Amino acid sequence: MADPIVAQKEPIEIELAEGKRYVWCRCGRSGRQPFCDRSHLGSGFTPIVFRAKRSRRYSLCCCKRTKNPPYCDGSHEAL
Ligand code: FES
Repeated sequence: MADPIVAQKEPIEIELAEGKRYVWCRCGRSGRQPFCDRSHLGSGFTPIVFRAKRSRRYSLCCCKRTKNPPYCDGSHEAL
């Protein structure tokens, strides 16, 4: 399987709501980053479903190289 597409080389800062379910794009093809729009169909990638632990701003990965998805871990700095 090929590497995911780099949607952008910086994370997106976004307010998430405690307990709410989100679907993070893993393939990089989604047109509504950082979330899934089902563009992964046929790519071999599947999105990551997660819930925010608290209501606050999060930094979600858009380069798709993070080792701690869906959160930015700074891996984009090596691109
Ligand atoms: S945007 Fe992917 S690790 Fe920061």
